[in-house]
Amino acid sequence: MALSSPFLWFLGLLVSLCWCWGTTLASEAKVGYGYRMTSLEESTFNGGSLIGYLKVKQSTSKYGPDIPNLRLFVKHENQDRLRVHITDADNPRWEVPYNLLPRAPPPPLTENLKTSSHFSAPSYPGSNLIFTFEPDPFYFAVTRKSTGETIFNTSGFDFVFKDQYIQISTQLPKTASLYGLGENTQPGGIRLRPNDPYTLYTTDISAINLNTDLYGSHPIYMDLRNNGGRVSAHGVLLLNSNGMDVFYKGTSLTYKIIGGLLDFYFFSGPSPLDVVDQYTTLIGRPAAMPYWALGFHQCRWGYKNLSVVEGVVEGYKKANIPLDVIWNDDDHMDAAKDFTLDPINYPRPKLLEFLDRIHSEGMHYIVLIDPGIAVNSSYGVYQRGMQKDVFIKLEGQPYLAQVWPGPVYFPDYLNPNGVSWWVDEISRFHQLVPVDGLWIDMNEASNFCTGKCVIPTTHQCPEPNSTTPWVCCLDCKNLTNTRWDNPPYKINASGKSAPLGYNTIATSATHYDGVLEYNAHSLYGFSQAIATHKALLGLDGKRPFILSRSSFVGSGSYAAHWTGDNKGTWEDLKYSISTMLNFGLFGMPMVGSDICGFYPAAVPLEELCNRWIELGAFYPFSRDHANFASPRQELYQWDSVAKSARNALGLRYKLLPYLYTLIYEAHLTGAPVARPVFYSFPEFTSSYGLSTQFLLGSGVMVSPVLEQGATSVKAMFPPGSWYNLFDMTKAVISKDASLVTLDAPLNEVNVHVYQGMVLPMQRGGVISKEARQTPFTLVIAFPYGTDGAEANGKVYVDDDERPEMILVEGEATYVEFEASVKGKTVTVTSNVQMGKYSLSKGLMIEKMSVLGLQGKGKELAIEVDGTALVNTTSVYFNHVGEVQEEVEGGSKKGMLVEVGGLELPLGKSFSLSWKMEIVS
Ligand SMILES: *[C@@H]1O[C@H](CO)[C@@H](O)[C@H](O)[C@H]1NC(C)=O
Ligand SMILES: *[C@@H]1O[C@H](CO)[C@@H](O)[C@H](O)[C@H]1NC(C)=O
Ligand SMILES: *[C@@H]1O[C@H](CO)[C@@H](O)[C@H](O)[C@H]1NC(C)=O
Ligand SMILES: *[C@@H]1O[C@H](CO)[C@@H](O)[C@H](O)[C@H]1NC(C)=O
Ligand SMILES: *[C@@H]1O[C@H](CO)[C@@H](O)[C@H](O)[C@H]1NC(C)=O
Ligand SMILES: *[C@@H]1O[C@H](CO)[C@@H](O)[C@H](O)[C@H]1NC(C)=O
Ligand SMILES: *[C@@H]1O[C@H](CO)[C@@H](O)[C@H](O)[C@H]1NC(C)=O
Repeated sequence: MALSSPFLWFLGLLVSLCWCWGTTLASEAKVGYGYRMTSLEESTFNGGSLIGYLKVKQSTSKYGPDIPNLRLFVKHENQDRLRVHITDADNPRWEVPYNLLPRAPPPPLTENLKTSSHFSAPSYPGSNLIFTFEPDPFYFAVTRKSTGETIFNTSGFDFVFKDQYIQISTQLPKTASLYGLGENTQPGGIRLRPNDPYTLYTTDISAINLNTDLYGSHPIYMDLRNNGGRVSAHGVLLLNSNGMDVFYKGTSLTYKIIGGLLDFYFFSGPSPLDVVDQYTTLIGRPAAMPYWALGFHQCRWGYKNLSVVEGVVEGYKKANIPLDVIWNDDDHMDAAKDFTLDPINYPRPKLLEFLDRIHSEGMHYIVLIDPGIAVNSSYGVYQRGMQKDVFIKLEGQPYLAQVWPGPVYFPDYLNPNGVSWWVDEISRFHQLVPVDGLWIDMNEASNFCTGKCVIPTTHQCPEPNSTTPWVCCLDCKNLTNTRWDNPPYKINASGKSAPLGYNTIATSATHYDGVLEYNAHSLYGFSQAIATHKALLGLDGKRPFILSRSSFVGSGSYAAHWTGDNKGTWEDLKYSISTMLNFGLFGMPMVGSDICGFYPAAVPLEELCNRWIELGAFYPFSRDHANFASPRQELYQWDSVAKSARNALGLRYKLLPYLYTLIYEAHLTGAPVARPVFYSFPEFTSSYGLSTQFLLGSGVMVSPVLEQGATSVKAMFPPGSWYNLFDMTKAVISKDASLVTLDAPLNEVNVHVYQGMVLPMQRGGVISKEARQTPFTLVIAFPYGTDGAEANGKVYVDDDERPEMILVEGEATYVEFEASVKGKTVTVTSNVQMGKYSLSKGLMIEKMSVLGLQGKGKELAIEVDGTALVNTTSVYFNHVGEVQEEVEGGSKKGMLVEVGGLELPLGKSFSLSWKMEIVS
């Protein structure tokens, strides 16, 4: 990362001075004058690409001298993905390490495989995207081949490339809807709002801070456009781990980045799901999740001892509320030290007894760990870390910080020794306590102190029995004397242009191989998740479960995410939807917010908690978590909340096979579990900003109450038939974007299934292990009263112990269902791709619940494996509800036709058919 020569520095200074003299002194000095292209060649590198060189037009001194020569590398990596990589032509620069996020490297700077010279970019016949440029001043644009539409165009804006300041912009049409650029709590909803700040830099700032650089960094956006009915979406990733401000002004978007290089990836879509598919093809597919992780989770910081934890499990049991996973924050630890147990409050023999008991019932246990390792010479984890020299350093010494245990050092997960030491510590811990997953917190990394610190000589740190362990007690001095601690351009860090090292690792600290914290800062949680994943895989080969607070591009392949420290407010309830939906786009679909809020509620909690579990029961990751200062908020604490929980979680546990199939789909194609409505209905423009409702998969709509005191909810439904999953005789027949008023008494939430779906459900239960063995019902939703309609669905099941979710005969089952109604004949068939696993488990389908039909069923015929079933004495028709009773607005009463008493083995091909007879 060499600076330009002093000579150029001096020149740059002169130039900018001259410029100032020549214009009005009041105007701010120009940051850069752009580049001109000096050559462009087609290269044979990696199967065909373009390599060009750019020369700075005129240097300035603002934010440091310009890099004089740049190299441009353009590659159509596949038909949907175009990469534009721009870096210093003379010196290697920092970029996201290729071993951390595996992808094709660009050619080395010495690459010189000329075949022919061009001054216009050749087009690649197979590609959906076209790269164009102008040489002087250099700009580039990307267009969509099929429509000629420009999706990115850097013309008309300053293009600046300095060591610690890179600026580039694109034009945008006013009509573009943008999504992404997180992690960020967005009061305006999922669609990015022009002029809101978007700063990306991983920071321990609680989620109650709006429009601020929160825990994760995801420099990806999706751009959705509807040009007179022609709808298309594309994605733009700027793969860069340095801090950046992104300014979205409505008709332009500008990146201001404080290091690294430009590595753009354009994804052609054209559907929103295509964009996520193409994005996760590059960054890694979302991790497989164990089945039990889809159950309900309970946690609290402040479960003082094991008896309290046992009481919580008991409380759920007594109230008959589902609970799969019980968690400890740091209460189980000895003085907040990772991988230890508090011998008094969590004595190991008692804890092991407890774990034996809950494990035998099918429950699971997860605990928290933080990256900070207590500096304590009698602590084995620390001793072994020192021995292996695994900690991040400042001026040659391990970097001293303060977190919960007091003074700590931070492991360096970019150091291979750091990773192997971490893997070993987790394995040792697992022998101490057989935990089922790990929660990696505070990994932005969070530090209660700032700067360069030493252990004080004048007072104890931490103070014994401190009631404010989060107040810095080390002796610290601010670091301002390096260009890493004090870069020329200040991003809006912590929402207040804080120094980069504010409450984190000093940015002049170094990792393995001299890597600067300045560059690698936002990769910390990501690198920790990779190391932790490796450790868990190595234990007993079971599918890992990791929950991480900090995240980066690619984290979703290793970990789930919760949205961090929120608060018990109605606003936070609402904001949780947008953040959850964003993480779907970020390739991290296993996500949810702390149900009922983490920080003590600002309003009476009971009503809010009712509404929160009604929404949170449909977060992909569903966990109630609270702060020690909050009143107890386990779902059984209030009768009303318990009732709402049994209702909403009751439905979740019936939907587990659907949710698990969605996890499989996510793992295969990146498709998020919770999706914005426009993912399934891209033509339905009214849904582009819809952030108060969402879909699970392609067509299960959740319409929660988000307002205090409300007993109804106004919801939007794309045209078609939507059936209430709690009372399937209630239907919404929507024609347009007008809002439908749905009843929503305190204990009820509205969840609807869309026409065309076959939804695999089971009987449910209070623990997923048992729920998943119960018989299946297929809910088949036809458009209301339409002949000639079809519905489709699928189900994936496996043992959830194998790390991968793949189709291996005998270990997984995948079945597709098709249903149709034609000329009053209803047919339901299964298409088995792999069946042995579910057959060996004895999984059965007991019922079809068919929606949208009119009349009564008769003349049922069933075939299993091509043979007609003769004895159907146990099979019955059940007809619930009336035909076509108009209620109000778009709501109607419809009919539910049940075919019950079935015993169809899941995993055998079958076909059912019957006739519908209209009775007047
Ligand atoms: C990019 O913008 C410039 C300036 O507005 C315009 O002349 C050029 O045609 C645009 N290029 C594309 C591909 O849209
Ligand atoms: C556990 O903590 C609770 C609440 O602080 C307390 O009432 C109880 O006595 C403790 N039990 C044990 C066994 O320490
Ligand atoms: C170091 O850890 C031990 C137990 O692991 C504890 O007893 C001791 O108080 C700790 N020392 C300091 C200085 O925190
Ligand atoms: C800290 O708390 C422990 C247990 O509550 C107590 O035994 C000890 O005396 C306290 N130490 C100080 C210095 O207050
Ligand atoms: C260090 O910097 C912070 C943030 O700019 C400031 O609030 C604090 O007073 C400074 N501390 C010292 C010791 O200079
Ligand atoms: C920095 O972010 C905060 C929080 O969103 C915002 O209020 C402030 O206006 C931003 N400052 C700048 C200079 O953009
Ligand atoms: C038909 O099945 C029912 C239960 O499904 C069983 O009780 C009955 O014995 C069977 N009849 C014959 C003839 O197999």
